[in-house]
Amino acid sequence: MTAGGADLPAGRPSGLVGRQVAHYRIDAEVGRGGMAVVYRATDLRLGRTVALKLLAPELARNDTFRKRFAHESRVAAAIDHPNIVPVFEAGETEGLLYIAMRFVPGQDLRALLDRAGPLPVATALRIAVQVASALDAAHAHELVHRDVKPGNVLVAEGTDSDRPEHVYLTDFGLTKKSLSLTGFTSVGQFVGTLDYVAPEQISGRPVDGRCDVYSLGCVVYETLAGSPPFRRDDDMALLWAHQYDPPPPLSDVRPGLPAGMDEVLARALAKAPEHRYDSCMAFVTELRRAASSGAGGPGGAEDGAEDRAEGGGSPAGRPGAPQVPPAGPPPPPPAPPMWALPVFRGTERAP
Ligand SMILES: Nc1ncnc2c1ncn2[C@@H]1O[C@H](COP(=O)(O)OP(=O)(O)O)[C@@H](O)[C@H]1O
Ligand SMILES: [Mg+2]
Repeated sequence: MTAGGADLPAGRPSGLVGRQVAHYRIDAEVGRGGMAVVYRATDLRLGRTVALKLLAPELARNDTFRKRFAHESRVAAAIDHPNIVPVFEAGETEGLLYIAMRFVPGQDLRALLDRAGPLPVATALRIAVQVASALDAAHAHELVHRDVKPGNVLVAEGTDSDRPEHVYLTDFGLTKKSLSLTGFTSVGQFVGTLDYVAPEQISGRPVDGRCDVYSLGCVVYETLAGSPPFRRDDDMALLWAHQYDPPPPLSDVRPGLPAGMDEVLARALAKAPEHRYDSCMAFVTELRRAASSGAGGPGGAEDGAEDRAEGGGSPAGRPGAPQVPPAGPPPPPPAPPMWALPVFRGTERAP
């Protein structure tokens, strides 16, 4: 059994549309990830629309996934933040585990990027600052998200032209207390998406909030460049790149951006956590500063970056020169690491 969404039996989940689960009527499927299917549903007691996340039935028999799913609802419910999806209820009925939460109309950032390609700098920064604010709030609870990726960022319409998007971070299924170990489950699967996974997650070293800084760096890079910093033909090479290869400067991929943005991204994507920014807001604050101070040709910081995250509260950025990875070819590769083996045993890349 893998964590791949492809394992969900085709037909069966959508067979739930029109049916009732606990006191929810399932109206439509809105998304699925590695672990669950999310529906738009109606809470029949209150008459309101909710998002109902159901653990895939075959995973509901697996104790690891059951625990993780229950954990997710508790974690998300513990953090009250405007950029974190509020959880209304979690429960189990007829062998189905569910989480009911605010339904976020709109799309996730994965779908947005697939449709719209690289975003205007101001849009990318407005999204980044809201995700950063949510992550720092989680970190303030000593929680590390560990699965920051576009599919876990929901983009809804904002309130007005000053705030065209309202962004929610979701999917706290992999969240752990700080300094916990790795992204491997006890059944030996890797559960993160490899495009955004931090080097210390790959190598099984302890992770803290700075692993989310790295993943956020990858996501922000993708919103600006159109693809994540590392693209490789196979998973092994991709893991290798996260560990050892310097990220290509953003300005190579999207000319016209201020050079300062390259340095900020390089520091967010530093291989060693201690070389990264201390917080997600420190990273995004520096990125905004770099975006607004640079030349900015076509695709530059065209419409400013003045928005603030909901609930803001950013720790100050650590001053000092960005840690740019050393130029030149990477050092010769060591032998293939042992940790890589369980990654590829019966595990699929997330789509
Ligand atoms: N509250 C929500 N409102 C609307 N859509 C949602 C909501 N939560 C999740 N989704 C959609 O469902 C998809 C899968 O949800 P997610 O919580 O990431 O599940 P998984 O743990 O399986 O990755 C998301 O990528 C998103 O498109
Ligand atoms: Mg997800």
